[in-house]
Amino acid sequence: MKIDLIAGARPNFMKIAPIINSIKNSNSRIIYRLIHTGQHYDEKMSGSFFKQLGIPNPDVNLGVGSGSHAFQVAEIMKRYEIELNKFNPDICLVVGDVNSTLACSIVAKKCLIKVAHVEGGIRSNDLSMPEEINRIVTDSITDYFFTTSEYANNNLLKLGIDDKQIFYVGNTMIDTLLKFKPKFLKPKFFDELQLKSKSYFVLTLHRPSNVDSIQKLNTILEFIDKNVANRKVIFPIHPRTRKCFLDINAIFKNITIVNPMTYLEFNYLVDNSLCVITDSGGITEEATVLNVPCITMRNTTERPETVELGSNELVGDDFEKFKKLLKKLFDGKWKKAKVPKFWDGNASNRIVEILNKMS
Ligand code: UD1
Repeated sequence: MKIDLIAGARPNFMKIAPIINSIKNSNSRIIYRLIHTGQHYDEKMSGSFFKQLGIPNPDVNLGVGSGSHAFQVAEIMKRYEIELNKFNPDICLVVGDVNSTLACSIVAKKCLIKVAHVEGGIRSNDLSMPEEINRIVTDSITDYFFTTSEYANNNLLKLGIDDKQIFYVGNTMIDTLLKFKPKFLKPKFFDELQLKSKSYFVLTLHRPSNVDSIQKLNTILEFIDKNVANRKVIFPIHPRTRKCFLDINAIFKNITIVNPMTYLEFNYLVDNSLCVITDSGGITEEATVLNVPCITMRNTTERPETVELGSNELVGDDFEKFKKLLKKLFDGKWKKAKVPKFWDGNASNRIVEILNKMS
């Protein structure tokens, strides 16, 4: 069986890495190509992840780069179609919800190639998020759903998907987290900034709804700066956020901006933090498994198990709720996370076992 594995943006790399490993270790008859769309392209957003996670060099790099959503999707589609026709795979396997996921699944399906979607079925029900549109469209043409949660399974069943197409395998992002946990790396600035374990916050923000308006970003940062009881807040700034941040004139005395971090350093920072404040989805999963308190600056989540079972709480724009949660945190009363079913480091092995049976 021939499979194209698609990865394009930062949150894809930790999901695809263990699948490649499982294929290599399984004596399988799967022949794969790794296609990097080039949606993320620089060392910080892409290169360092390949190195640290031991991902082989892509067989093909579509080199798409930055641009509007329409530009990125259109360019990936044009360039992937040419490459797809050279290899003619049986399956195109996409992960997550980024523009590369959407673009490659459409190209494959139109060429009558089966689509497998790792992390299929999750929904925020918030159509203002580009990722939600990507999930809905991708799932509408997916043949094999590899799911991370009961919640995802139920969403798909409600849509009328045949349960034979749904494979509840767990979370490949957590495969990577558990495998690399012993290798987490202390960032250079950790001692320079005199960070102490379980005393500081980690902040990440990159959702358009939080970072595309100077006023909104400023309000969030001002609130955090004032309400963290003078604890340090380390803010690895996403390139999208930096653009807006540069136009803010205020000084935030507790917030330290650092560049986007490598995987092993970022997760060291999270693992040792008192709390993560984020608008990412993937980080809420990692924080749950690491049992680190997590406050999410969104009103919805496509990963409700991180709230129901895990260490995550949603605050959206509700700063009063945010204050109450910070009090709970400082009082040492944060809930203890339970790990969702199948987030056990073996999701990729399950995926490859299923793919092997199909071949
Ligand atoms: C994308 C994904 C989002 C994911 C996020 C993680 C979609 C719709 N969104 O959003 O789901 O959570 O990545 O990072 O696919 N840039 C660089 N270097 C790079 C890549 C990007 O500087 O290597 C800059 C670009 O110039 C661009 C900005 O970062 O202006 C945003 O990148 P883009 O891929 O368009 O979207 P993200 O906001 O990163």
